[in-house]
Amino acid sequence: MRLVTQVSEVHEFIDECRVQKSTVGLVPTMGFLHEGHTSLMQRAGKENDKTIATIFVNPLQFAAGEDLSSYPQNLEKDISECEAIGIDLLFTPSSEEMYSQPILTSVQIDQLMNSLEGASRPTHFSGVATVVAKLFNIVGPCNAYFGEKDWQQLQVISTMARDLSFRVKVLGCPTVRQSDGLALSSRNAYLSLEERKAATALSRSLQIASENVQAGETSAVVIKSQIVDEITDEALVTLDYVEIVEGSSLITIDQISKGARILIAAKVGKARLIDNVDPYFGIK
Ligand code: PAF
Repeated sequence: MRLVTQVSEVHEFIDECRVQKSTVGLVPTMGFLHEGHTSLMQRAGKENDKTIATIFVNPLQFAAGEDLSSYPQNLEKDISECEAIGIDLLFTPSSEEMYSQPILTSVQIDQLMNSLEGASRPTHFSGVATVVAKLFNIVGPCNAYFGEKDWQQLQVISTMARDLSFRVKVLGCPTVRQSDGLALSSRNAYLSLEERKAATALSRSLQIASENVQAGETSAVVIKSQIVDEITDEALVTLDYVEIVEGSSLITIDQISKGARILIAAKVGKARLIDNVDPYFGIK
């Protein structure tokens, strides 16, 4: 595995890939890798000749007062994992390498960025879209892999790639869960044992909702109130929002039908956790 920190070194690797006519799979991450990330890397490895992973804790997607300075990191372990998986190039740039100052350009995606996570974190998705656009430009044509756990992020990035004509195929991959349903997230590291147990209320409530939808309930109001009840029973969990939307436009719906997505966000101790489900599929 090549470990590089400079954009020019990524370009050199990409030039070699082009000469060899190798297809490229890209997995952008913020590090502190878990099985959710490694499942993306494994899929990228299966579907492409060469794989690039990136680790960059992107300051632009954290607002003042969020967890940028305490975001969990373990670069040495991440490097070994990428090596073990067979990543060909790992790009770990510094902030200075990624952003020349002052930063005057940013990416906005109308309609998709202001609701749900965007309502609580107004600058977040512009920061995500800007760094991902930069990575897409640095790497060029590729298949890029993102987890469905960050459902809104996936829609923002897919829409950006389409609207800005990036030669990048954006691929969403299923959320990886622990055996009790908790969606894997680097922020789970913030949870105490008790909070970790309480956090399963998110996936549990989504699974109950899915079962009710599959049994014929189509009213979003009814399903949302069942989820609120389930979450409120858990004293350590504070619900931020539960919304039922059309999956790709993220427009709120009243009647649930195929293509719907239920999204939830909650605070558990120091951690802000998110999860989502296709109610016709459920938490698997
Ligand atoms: O999902 C993440 O880890 C980040 O938002 C991403 C896509 C790597 C951009 O910084």
